[in-house]
Amino acid sequence: VEQSYIMIKPDGVQRGLVGEIISRFEKKGFLLKGLKLFQCSKDLAQEHYKDLKDKPFFPTLIDYITSGPVVCMAWEGVGVVASARKLIGATNPLQAEPGTIRGDLAVQTGRNVVHGSDSPDNGKREIALWFKEGELCEWESVQTPWLIE
Ligand code: GTP
Ligand code: MG
Repeated sequence: VEQSYIMIKPDGVQRGLVGEIISRFEKKGFLLKGLKLFQCSKDLAQEHYKDLKDKPFFPTLIDYITSGPVVCMAWEGVGVVASARKLIGATNPLQAEPGTIRGDLAVQTGRNVVHGSDSPDNGKREIALWFKEGELCEWESVQTPWLIE
């Protein structure tokens, strides 16, 4: 099944938005497979955002992501990658629609509170990067029959 790597960035943790952000994915009906509070290294942040390494904002992006603990999550469900991107909203929070996480909770691209994988392949890659063997849980939610016919 498709999985997405969702991460609450250090500003989301510092601003007390952890519960609010997790709640949006829970209420939508996706399945939480992994969750941890984690202080990441520069190396890990650089590997995660390696596609952006030539951008002028790359050094400040790495400083931002490593500036405090993040909340790492693996969410599962059919269509979860694209749906999570919709729930998160546009990269620039001023352009993100109201009702989205960034649209409701942030004002600047450089402090946009949450990350979501941009493809199923990157979902797999990022979950493997941020979680160790044994950190994900295999479980079934009692809600599943009430979410999926
Ligand atoms: P992620 O879910 O975090 O990957 O965001 P995204 O997919 O909406 O955007 P993208 O992958 O293009 O950029 C990754 C992150 O880099 C963004 O979420 C921002 O935190 C940061 N970023 C992107 N563009 C800019 C920029 O122009 N300035 C600054 N300061 N940060 C940027
Ligand atoms: Mg991205």
